[in-house]
Amino acid sequence: MSPSPAFQLTRTLAEDVTGAALRSDVLRGLTGTPKSLPPKWFYDARGSELFDEITTLPEYYPTRAEREILVARAAEIAAATGARTLVELGSGSSDKTRHLLDAFPRLMAYVPVDVSESALRGAATSLLAERPSLGIHALIADFTRPLALPATPGPRLVAFLGGTIGNLLPAERAEFLAAVRGMLSPGDFFLLGTDLVKDEATLVAAYDDAAGVTAAFDKNVLAVVNRELGADFDLGAFDHVALWDAEREWIEMRLRAASAQTVKIRALDLAVDFAAGEELRTEVSAKFRKEGVRDELGSAGLELTGWWTDQAGRFALSLSTAAQRPART
Ligand SMILES: C[S@@+](CC[C@H](N)C(=O)[O-])C[C@H]1O[C@@H](n2cnc3c(N)ncnc32)[C@H](O)[C@@H]1O
Repeated sequence: MSPSPAFQLTRTLAEDVTGAALRSDVLRGLTGTPKSLPPKWFYDARGSELFDEITTLPEYYPTRAEREILVARAAEIAAATGARTLVELGSGSSDKTRHLLDAFPRLMAYVPVDVSESALRGAATSLLAERPSLGIHALIADFTRPLALPATPGPRLVAFLGGTIGNLLPAERAEFLAAVRGMLSPGDFFLLGTDLVKDEATLVAAYDDAAGVTAAFDKNVLAVVNRELGADFDLGAFDHVALWDAEREWIEMRLRAASAQTVKIRALDLAVDFAAGEELRTEVSAKFRKEGVRDELGSAGLELTGWWTDQAGRFALSLSTAAQRPART
């Protein structure tokens, strides 16, 4: 993109640190039982493109449902928070964020945070074309690690949209929410998008679309490991699977080995055996209920001050702020 005084991009992950994190995640995930990989590694430039395509699919209701809430409630959220800085974790294309940016009369800075540099650059290019005076301080960073946020005017609204919180396991969520609480000064708010529990057929279809875009997204993590770590995954030898775990109330995306095979990962000097039918978990996407969201926020020292759903009750946005009382243990 063309350089602009209104756009700054800061990399808080050095290349080698990112590489080391990928190596350690792949080593742990592929030598563990059952095998798994963390979802953040889906999002190279191709993965970010595929995710954007998923958001337009007829089966993938969360983006449309969350947009419906933002359109209806952005002005109310702006009035309740009076934010002058919007920090967005896992911002991706920042497409829905436009509804917030347009509703905040006093907004001076937008701080999108994402592991995907291509997504941050693409978002900044299109946002600046429409709003040349918006100050954008983009951070290439892992939101599960401590974040060094730029000094921008308060109060701040920290947004975490798209239901991405559901990709964290319960213990990771507790740690993440405590870190969000730690980012908030008095007068700051946290806006969280959560997909809600609903019927299994709707949920499974959203993660296993007829056009096979989610399958391509799922397999992209293997392409990332092939390219970055010199592995020889055959993407055609794995099938995409989406399952609803009714007890844990989460969707699991998995890649199932179509036949027995050995995959070599040169950078780790590792050979990994897959039995025929063996599955590699690539993503968990937890679904929520209002009481659960309130409890998880409360345990992190955050107090729920607003709750909105789309008309069909599929998705929720919640607003919270630092609780007056200490965090529950
Ligand atoms: C499910 S997409 C949601 C994108 C956007 N917020 C939306 O609502 O459409 C998740 C986004 O979070 C980013 N992401 C995933 N894990 C991350 C991590 N640990 N740290 C920073 N960004 C991450 C991805 O690159 C991707 O842009």
